[in-house]
Order: sequence, then C-alpha cells, then structure tokens
Amino acid sequence: PRKARLFSGVQPTGVMHLGNYLGAIKSWVKLQELYDTFYCIVDMHAITLQHEPKELLEATRRTAALYLACGVNPEVSSIFVQSHVPAHAELAWLLSCVTPIGWLRRMTQFKEKSARASDASEVGTGLLTYPVLMAADILLYQSELVPVGHDQKAHIELARDIAERTNRLYGNRQWKKLGGKGGKLFRIPDVFLPPVNARVMSLQDGTSKMSKSAESDMSRINLLDDPKLVKSKIQKAKSDGQVGLEFDNPDRPEANNLLGIYQTMSGISKDAAQSECKDLQWGEFKFRLAEAISEHLRPIQDRYKIIMDDRTVLDQVLQNGADVAAETAARTLFNEQAQRDAEGSGI
Ligand code: ADP
Ligand code: NA
Repeated sequence: PRKARLFSGVQPTGVMHLGNYLGAIKSWVKLQELYDTFYCIVDMHAITLQHEPKELLEATRRTAALYLACGVNPEVSSIFVQSHVPAHAELAWLLSCVTPIGWLRRMTQFKEKSARASDASEVGTGLLTYPVLMAADILLYQSELVPVGHDQKAHIELARDIAERTNRLYGNRQWKKLGGKGGKLFRIPDVFLPPVNARVMSLQDGTSKMSKSAESDMSRINLLDDPKLVKSKIQKAKSDGQVGLEFDNPDRPEANNLLGIYQTMSGISKDAAQSECKDLQWGEFKFRLAEAISEHLRPIQDRYKIIMDDRTVLDQVLQNGADVAAETAARTLFNEQAQRDAEGSGI
C-alpha cells in the first residue's frame, strides 16, 4: 500500500541541540520506515533574522551531516536543502497572495520576535511572512503528516487554513471551467505532535525551551559538544537545594528536565530512572548525567566526523534529495492532476 507522505525540517542555525534531537530527529529516524519521508534543511527560514552568509552555508552542511549521523537514512528518506529547490519560493509567493495579512499578524512567534528587535527597521517582511513559506514547504509535497514541536502547532494550523482557502478559491472552480473534473490543489496536512516529555528545557532555568536562539550557549547541550564541555555545562546547570531527583514535581522543573534527559540518554524507562536517582545528591547525579550524554553522543559524533571528512558523499545525498524533491514539488506547482484532467477532456 502507498505510504503516507511526511515532511519536516530544521533551521540551520548554530548546531543542533538535544531539544532538536529528542523532539525531532530521533523520531524522524523511526518515522522514515513507516512513511514516505521528506526531511529538509530550511535555510530560507534561517535568514528571517540577521545572519552571517558564510556561517549559514557551513551550518547547512553541518545540519545535513548531523541528520545522517543521527540515523536519517538517504535510502528511505529524501534529505535536501530548501534553497536547492526553487519551487519553495515560487509557491510561497502564490500562497502569500491568498493569505490575509491578519492571519500572519496574529502569529505569536511574529509578535514575540518583532517585539524583541531593538529597532523596528530590523524587522524584515520575512519575519511576518515566513509562515507562508512554511505552508509552501508542507503543501508542495502534498504532505499528510508534519511532525513538529508544540511551538510550531499554530503554523501548521495556518498551513491548513491557507490550503483550504486556496482549494476553495482556485481548486474546483478554476479547473471545472477548463472542463476538467476539478479537484483539490492541496491535501490538508495534519500536525503530528511529539509526546509532551520530548520537550527539552534550558539548562539554566528548566522552564524555557532549550533553543538555538537562546543567547547563552550554557543553556543547551549541542550534539557536537565534547565530553569536557558537556561536563562543565551540566555542572553549571541550575539545580535546587533538595536531595534526590524526581519527575513531574511542578516546584522542581530543573529536576524534571534533567532527569528526563538522563532517562532518554541512558535509554531506560521512566520508572528505572526514577528509582535509580530518587536518593542521589545533585553532584553524583550530574556526574552520571554528563557521562550518559557523552556516551550517547559519541557514536553520533564519530559518524559526523566521517561524513564531514568526505564532501562528495554528502553532496551526492543532497543532490539526490533535491532531485526527488524538485520532481515531486513540480507536480504540485504545475498542477499535474488538473493538467491530466484537462488533457482527458480534450482541451
Ligand atoms: P530551534 O527552536 O532550536 O531554533 P527549530 O525551530 O529549528 O529549533 O526546530 C526544529 C525542530 O526541533 C522542531 O520540530 C522543533 O519543534 C524541535 N525543537 C526545537 N527545540 C526543541 C526543544 N527544546 N525540545 C523539543 N523539541 C524541540
Ligand atoms: Na521513508
């Protein structure tokens, strides 16, 4: 039977961190066996805020190499860079013409990011319109499922609204007029949320999201951090005065976050993590946590080095991915179904 189509992506900013890994990439690796998977490095999203062009190029390669090192398999997934497939920009323009501006102004990410800018002239139009580009990313591939974190849910709902509006305005009517059977231009995608415990918080407060855009590098563990750096970040991570680690105590967000990281890095059950750590002092726990993280990251970092040492393999993977993506995207952009319908009716 036909596999359902699934699209997801990560921005190439800095280095992927444990949040990206546990909230996204790790599940992509499982999903790639079950679905027809398109995994993108969304570099055009990374330029909505000011950036260093050379660093963006490097971060794009780094992110692609990390996909592979974490187990995303080019034999069963299309792995590609957004800007290598011009159809993303083309469809984004078309969709922006059917997207009411009020829908974009309402997005909380826009409100937050534009409020953070010290100078209004730093707020580019792209910061307002990038959810349209995101809708294009998804709709181009007629995606059925879009795995994203909770923070992106509103953007997927927007993509659904844009798809429905475009189908209504230009789907049936237009093509029926041409004598075709008519049809939907876009499939309506569903958001695919990870479990709540896949959410990784900052090492510095336990309550804000671990993020590439957070100012301090001490707030996150990057997938390429060496054991020494992991150790010092974990030692400096915020703790509380209590003895013993526990999950789900609302007064102890740091304990919950770090114990959750320990559990997933060690590959043990929640119960096992809880009973192992319930009487530990923070010092001893942090020692074990740093070891578990570095142990988990070592094979990923080893594979990453091999991939980065030989440019040709990665270039080939990205080229193949872009070819498959461009071919698939063209079917949507040039509305192949409608063309077939029109041809069938002798137009
Ligand atoms: P960032 O927020 O670090 O810039 P992206 O916006 O590129 O990361 O998100 C890439 C993917 O990683 C998305 O699916 C997002 O939901 C997920 N993700 C990002 N940060 C976290 C986190 N702290 N915990 C869980 N998942 C996360
Ligand atoms: Na797949």
